[in-house]
Amino acid sequence: MQLKDKIYKGKTIAILSGGGDTPAINSSIEKIRNRALILGFRVYGVRQGWKGLLGEGDIVDLSNQPYNGVYGGTALFSSRTNPFSTDKDAEDRVPQIIRNIKRYKIDVLITIGGDDTNGAAKRLYEQKGIPVIGFPKTIDNDLKTNTIHSYKGKEIEAVLCPGFPSAALRVSKMTRHLRSTNESHRRVMVVEVMGRDAGWLTGSALFGGSELALIPEYEMTEERKERFFEKVKHRYNEKKNLIIAVSEGVRWWDDVSKQLSMVYASSETDEYGHKRFGGVSGVIASEISNRLNIPARSQISGYYPRSGFCCEYDRQLTSALADKVLDLLIRQDYGRMPTMSEILPMEQLEEYNTTSVDMGSIGNQHLPSIYFDEKEFVFTDAYVSFLSNILGAPYLPTFGYSFKKVDPDTL
Ligand code: F6P
Repeated sequence: MQLKDKIYKGKTIAILSGGGDTPAINSSIEKIRNRALILGFRVYGVRQGWKGLLGEGDIVDLSNQPYNGVYGGTALFSSRTNPFSTDKDAEDRVPQIIRNIKRYKIDVLITIGGDDTNGAAKRLYEQKGIPVIGFPKTIDNDLKTNTIHSYKGKEIEAVLCPGFPSAALRVSKMTRHLRSTNESHRRVMVVEVMGRDAGWLTGSALFGGSELALIPEYEMTEERKERFFEKVKHRYNEKKNLIIAVSEGVRWWDDVSKQLSMVYASSETDEYGHKRFGGVSGVIASEISNRLNIPARSQISGYYPRSGFCCEYDRQLTSALADKVLDLLIRQDYGRMPTMSEILPMEQLEEYNTTSVDMGSIGNQHLPSIYFDEKEFVFTDAYVSFLSNILGAPYLPTFGYSFKKVDPDTL
């Protein structure tokens, strides 16, 4: 078919990505772009999130370019720019955004982001009538996607966001690799994982051999902390090594100030009011050493899970969701975000298993209580069933030797 005959010839979509990057954003851009081009849309990229729609605009043409969606991050760059006025900055940038949408003749804006980016997009749609379609993205996996996990006759409201599968794979591998050094030194290793408000990603360390976990959903009060130390002692003594996974956003009882505290990497806040976490694993490891007299170390996984190539599961997931974007575009069903209706193994990530949610109802979603046993500080079999769809079965190699001790009296 010639371009002139295509239905959407002369129409333009613009894609932007905002917030923290993930290994699946380029894949999302590539898949949305390729599908939109088939229909005849011109496809633009807005650089640096909402920032690219301010001032004179920073817009690039993605229409006839090669685009490598396997390489992680976002070739459109990202920022945490908030288009609306904030406590820090009273300036309302919405008029600039509307002006640029008109100047660049953008018909529909596709916003790849989490709660902040898609929440702002929804406001633009509702308050200013800008046609928007959201696209989920976060390694924290805490964006409401209404994805059902069927487990032992129950329907659990789970979440599945592109970026999480690649990050979960990386956290599980990193934890698995840490086992050898940890076993060698007979230590406790406290592995810190991103996740400000939810423990979805922290659970993936279990697939690499972490045995206990602390997540933001359960504040580590004085009483919980005592119980936790008992578990650590018990688990460590079983085999003289132990990996504990903790979310960066865990609230931890401070024995000196006698209150719950959070550990921040910096005092800065971004335009959506978030502070940067980092370091709680060090505090926990040093308390384990001091109180239990067990050698303990901490390891912050930091940006590593967010980096690198897009995994196969995410490639397939972004394909299915991009198919749904097309459906929303064709039906001009704006203010919505495509999601998977069920958590499924990779082979079943197809458009017929997608649905869409109102971007106004996205919000943050904590880990369902059925996924975590807060008395034992462990992720449950229900969580393992959820994550197995993405990672397969946990793989836990170990030295596997059982040497016979030499008794000098028998020589
Ligand atoms: O986007 C979510 C996230 O990855 C969080 O897990 C983490 O707290 C935050 O981003 C870090 O953001 P930044 O890139 O601004 O340091």
